[in-house]
Amino acid sequence: MGSMLFSALQMRGLELPNRIVVSPMGQYSAENGSASDWHLMHLGSLAVSGAGLLVFEATAVHPTARLSPGDLGLWSDENAAALERAVVFCRKFGSAKLALQLWHAGRKGSVSVAWERQQPIPKDKGGWTPSSASAIPYPGRHVPEALDEAGIRNTIQHHVDAAKRADAIGLDLIEVHGAHGYLIHNFLSPITNQRTDQYGGSLENRMRFGLDLFKAVREVWPERKPLGIRISTTDWVDGGWEVEDSVEFVRRLKDLGCDYVTASSGGTVPEQRLKVYPGYQVPHAEKIRRETGMCTMAVGLITEPRQAEEILVSGKADLVALGRGMLYNPRWPWHAAVELGEDFSYPKQYERSHPSMRSGDFLKPAR
Ligand SMILES: Cc1cc2nc3c(=O)[nH]c(=O)nc-3n(C[C@H](O)[C@H](O)[C@H](O)COP(=O)(O)O)c2cc1C
Repeated sequence: MGSMLFSALQMRGLELPNRIVVSPMGQYSAENGSASDWHLMHLGSLAVSGAGLLVFEATAVHPTARLSPGDLGLWSDENAAALERAVVFCRKFGSAKLALQLWHAGRKGSVSVAWERQQPIPKDKGGWTPSSASAIPYPGRHVPEALDEAGIRNTIQHHVDAAKRADAIGLDLIEVHGAHGYLIHNFLSPITNQRTDQYGGSLENRMRFGLDLFKAVREVWPERKPLGIRISTTDWVDGGWEVEDSVEFVRRLKDLGCDYVTASSGGTVPEQRLKVYPGYQVPHAEKIRRETGMCTMAVGLITEPRQAEEILVSGKADLVALGRGMLYNPRWPWHAAVELGEDFSYPKQYERSHPSMRSGDFLKPAR
């Protein structure tokens, strides 16, 4: 019998050929939000990796929705044209289905790129005022502006506009970024949301922004295309967002037609008590799956093919995402196929790299 890792998964009109997902990973290499040649190289290599789904990095819906000036964006036609070039390039050679992560960085925004240690950018050096649920800064960063009702409406509209562009350039799936201390998560967590209006206070009120945003994107994103969300299942700190809150949030997302949830965690505050070990977030994917029936994607130190297979076979998740492991070894799916005894098609240019084809007459393949 074949493995689960290499079994197909149907989501609406999209068939993923296997359960391996490349987790979204910001490259800080965009120019005014537009994908660069780095993206062709980076995404191109991952598109031929054999993964079933490649999720492009967090993509800002507005210049002020960025974390850093190097972030990918989809707020303009120029951004869309540059990203379309990457989509076409990936499709020409790769087999992965292509997704995009729709993003507003919330209160963490206006900092330098990762390798410049994410320092706040002064206003006179091109910095901007980030937005959040309340005017409470992430330690060491700019004081954000609390979005008023008009700001909330505009922000949702920016997500809608970006989703329409994503459809127009042929992306297969959107993942809304609701995790890691960014804008949606700023509204969810009682630590960052101290509003007294209908968007703050009770769990119901704190969920409102994320649910309204998801609903608005679902309305414009084609019916046949899946729409998922990444959440931080917990803040890992007392008085913060908890796994139980996530279960309720996912129930509500399910009613809105959400197709899957990626169970990530943390990001609200630096003092989070987060212990990292292989598969450290998998129990949360499992709990959400069990208690809501939602399709879940597990992520976080999943590095071994048999570990990934066990997560799926034991019903803890429906999909597994790899981040750093795929950067380190972009041929991970090929190696996993060998380890799990799966036949797997390579780009024809690379077929001779298969272990069974390294000896003998290469014109008469052994397999
Ligand atoms: C370089 C880098 C960039 C990342 N950028 C994003 C991002 O854009 N969106 C996101 O949701 N997570 C991002 N992450 C988190 C990963 O998607 C993933 O959840 C995390 O690295 C844990 O999985 P792993 O142990 O397989 O790397 C990033 C991680 C890395 C290492």
